Amino acid sequence: MFCDMQRRQYRKQGFFVVDDAVDPDMLQPLLAAVMRAKQKVRSGKVDLYTHRSADGEPWAIRGLFAPEMNEPIFAEYLMSEPVMKYVRPFLGTRLQLGGALIFTNPYQADYGFGWHRDFGGNERDGSYRVEMKILKRPQRSLKWHLALVDDECLQIVPGSHKRYRTAHERRCLLEERHDDISGQYAVPLKAGQTAFWSGNLIHRGVMKRDVERLTLAGSWSMYAPGGEPTETDPRLKWMLADNVRGFLPKAMRPLYDRWREGQKADRGLNG
Ligand SMILES: [Fe+2]
Repeated sequence: MFCDMQRRQYRKQGFFVVDDAVDPDMLQPLLAAVMRAKQKVRSGKVDLYTHRSADGEPWAIRGLFAPEMNEPIFAEYLMSEPVMKYVRPFLGTRLQLGGALIFTNPYQADYGFGWHRDFGGNERDGSYRVEMKILKRPQRSLKWHLALVDDECLQIVPGSHKRYRTAHERRCLLEERHDDISGQYAVPLKAGQTAFWSGNLIHRGVMKRDVERLTLAGSWSMYAPGGEPTETDPRLKWMLADNVRGFLPKAMRPLYDRWREGQKADRGLNG
């Protein structure tokens, strides 16, 4: 259950780890669904949006709510009470979608994306003033990793979510993206554990080809009505397709509609 200690750790260090953010009965079915999804993508049967290593192996798989993926458990999990009881204290009850993706290990080579902050289209080499302004934006979303097998791939620099980068960190963020950073911490997740963490943290994923990674990443966002619709993130354009909404659980459709309201593109795109 979410408690003050976790809130403090999230505020100070930018993350916390819990054992109870997933229904234990859902763990094995989720693991099986993740393995099937990986197989569908590797075999070329499904590919809605896949991040691939240089040799074409998937390391991040999107499209989990799509009927083509045919794995309704991913949407059920996102809507489940053990997830929501951690989401509500951060975002309240008026939510909009959210997403889910699988992080996995390519089989042909070790793989790492390198140090970054999840800044989207914001300036990545800002002055102190510019970077601190980005870091101090009100929190509008919450993200997490659920490990379905033991996973230590996520490395973070605890506390870096609320301070300007050092000169060495700048070099690691922009140039030598695979150098070590003093104080880096590989978040050790046992199967079934969930790490909630801030995308403002300086972080990277370090994957070994012979260490299986089957981790489900999820997020929810706060509903923001009345804004100007914006261009859809290319990684999410598959969600605009006409067949996605009807495949979601009924309770999730209004949350999908709130997300859809904020998208500029017309209905019917297949992304
Ligand atoms: Fe990231």
